[in-house]
Amino acid sequence: MARSILVVNGPNLNLLGSREPAVYGHTTLADVERELAQQATQLGVALQTFQSNHEGALIDRLHAARGDGTDFIIINAGAFAHTSVALRDAMAAVAIAFVEVHISNVYRRERFRHRSLLSDLAVGAIVGLGTSGYRLALQFAAAFSAPAATVPGASPTR
Ligand code: DQA
Repeated sequence: MARSILVVNGPNLNLLGSREPAVYGHTTLADVERELAQQATQLGVALQTFQSNHEGALIDRLHAARGDGTDFIIINAGAFAHTSVALRDAMAAVAIAFVEVHISNVYRRERFRHRSLLSDLAVGAIVGLGTSGYRLALQFAAAFSAPAATVPGASPTR
C-alpha cells in the first residue's frame, strides 16, 4: 500500500500569498497543495492536506491520523508552534513521525519565534526556505522509514 502523508497547516496559513508577502512570498496555500499533490503522484505516495485556524480542530485532525493510516506528518503549526503545549501533546500522543516546516527563517525574526514546542519531537525541521520547504519535506517523507528514536513520545524531551 502507498505511504500516506498528511500535511497540516495552522493559523493564518490560509492567507498565504496575500499575507505579509515580503515575509511569506506570493504563493498561495492552494498553489502549495496543488504542487504537493502533483509531487505525491510522482513519488507514488498518498497525500492528505488540512488547514485550520483553530487549535482544537488541528488537534482533532492529528488524533484522527492515528486511525486513518497516516505514516508521516508534515506540519507548519504557524504561531501555535511557539505557544501550544496542547498541540505538542497531540504530536506526542499520536506518535507519528513528523517534519516541522516554517516558511520564514524564524531565527532571523522576533525572539518569541525562536522557540518551537514541536522541534524536539520532530525528526527534523525545515526553516526559512520559503514554500519549497513543503516540497523538500514531502521528498523526505516519501523515503523516510522510522528508526524508533525519531518517533515522538519515544524520544527524550525537555
Ligand atoms: C510561520 C512562522 C511563525 O512564526 C508564524 O507565526 C507563522 C508562519 C512560517 O511558516 O514561517 O504563522 O510558521
